Amino acid sequence: MLLFCDPGIDDAVAIYYAHFHPEIELVGMVAEYGNTSTENAFRNALYLQETLGIHVPLFRGAQGPMTGKEVELHPEIHGEYGLGTINTPEKVDVEIPENFFEVIDLIRAYTGKLTIVTTGRLTSLAVLCLYYHDLLCEKVQEIVSMAGAFFVPGNVTALAEANVYEDPIAAKLVIEHAPMLTIVPLNVTDRLLVPMEMIERITFENGYEMLHALIHYYYDFYEAATIDPLLGTPLHDVVAFSVLMNPEFFTFLTYRVYVESADTETAGATFPDLRELVDLPPAPQHLVAIEANEAAFLEDFERILSSRGRREKADRHG
Ligand code: BDR
Ligand code: CA
Repeated sequence: MLLFCDPGIDDAVAIYYAHFHPEIELVGMVAEYGNTSTENAFRNALYLQETLGIHVPLFRGAQGPMTGKEVELHPEIHGEYGLGTINTPEKVDVEIPENFFEVIDLIRAYTGKLTIVTTGRLTSLAVLCLYYHDLLCEKVQEIVSMAGAFFVPGNVTALAEANVYEDPIAAKLVIEHAPMLTIVPLNVTDRLLVPMEMIERITFENGYEMLHALIHYYYDFYEAATIDPLLGTPLHDVVAFSVLMNPEFFTFLTYRVYVESADTETAGATFPDLRELVDLPPAPQHLVAIEANEAAFLEDFERILSSRGRREKADRHG
């Protein structure tokens, strides 16, 4: 799997899950602006790679949205540098490379076997859609994106989810041009709440103190921001990986999907065309996850992030 991400706390959790899942092989990562700046996202991704022992190429993605607007960072949710209280600029001394288009060689190298997962803004993937559409169609097996909100409240505006809202032009390009797209929207990610007691059990079992600190930071934000008491914290991005590995936990609908890309009150809204008419204008249809089995998701999440997941992977790789 090739991950486009903006770490970002929940992106970091998704990276933990992918790394410890016995059936997932991460082969590369693109880090771009979003929850934090591109530079911070790159350093954070590198820090996670070094901490977890992930040895895959890391590419520097987009630095801002196709709207040309200034990037809106989210230190209140993800911390000053994107990983809670961790100061990665101090910890990771690296020159940020200009290597984005090298990702093409990686996509070619995994022809027919590669799944792209996106857990950030869709800008970098949209660039590939524009420059390398044929390559994406021919070489990539599937694309899964944490993005959007279908008839449920957004998390930036009343209608819009962050990964779409921050660059609706890119989201529209991806939705119109990406082949084999599965969308994992707030419909499912907002409902899958991971209780802190579970994170405490995981930490007790395997000592991922950093994971615990990151999720705690995220939980505290949601607890302060939400009216009703929280049963747990959403961890949006990891759900994209769960959808890939456990499609049976989810209910999908096939929709003709649209994005409001104009700079209006409804910018970033995602909506399906539900008209049952013969003569509709051609539009791409995508799988959208709309419901989830919470108990099954939580059981799998705990199993993978517990030492059992790690042991299984170690066994598999001898
Ligand atoms: C998405 O937006 C980002 O802030 C999170 O990392 C996640 O990818 C949730 O709307
Ligand atoms: Ca993200």
